[in-house]
Amino acid sequence: MKKKFFIKIIFFLIFLPNISLSNDLGLGKEVAETICAGCHGVDGRAASGGNSALVPNIFSQNKEYLVVKLKEYKSGKLNHPQMTLIAQMLTDDQILNVSEWYSKISAELKLPE
Ligand code: HEC
Repeated sequence: MKKKFFIKIIFFLIFLPNISLSNDLGLGKEVAETICAGCHGVDGRAASGGNSALVPNIFSQNKEYLVVKLKEYKSGKLNHPQMTLIAQMLTDDQILNVSEWYSKISAELKLPE
């Protein structure tokens, strides 16, 4: 009985960080609000500021795409004066979380008539 309990606790401790740190929408929103919003907006629509013409929309984007791009900026494979610095500030978990946030924003598509 006691042994089972400890096994459960150990499993809980092993998996807890994964559950709470990656793919967390709430933590992703926090990163979006505190770091990304100035340029991409919390909604991922680049509607802000003077240089917004150069800032891409990132809402509703495929999550894997966002993760790959952020990791490429972080590793230096992609080099951009702003994004490289920003991606280097992020942990791998923050990259997953913030990508979860922007990929989960839904948008309605309307083709031009
Ligand atoms: C200082 C302004 C600024 C901030 C803050 C910023 N970005 Fe960016 N971001 C840019 C610009 C400018 C580009 C276009 C870079 C390029 O041309 O390579 C970009 C590109 C990107 C791309 C690549 C999009 C694509 O389709 O190629 C992703 C993903 C991205 N940003 C995510 C983020 C996330 C997530 C954050 C917050 C952690 C963030 N950015 C914060 C300015 C910013």
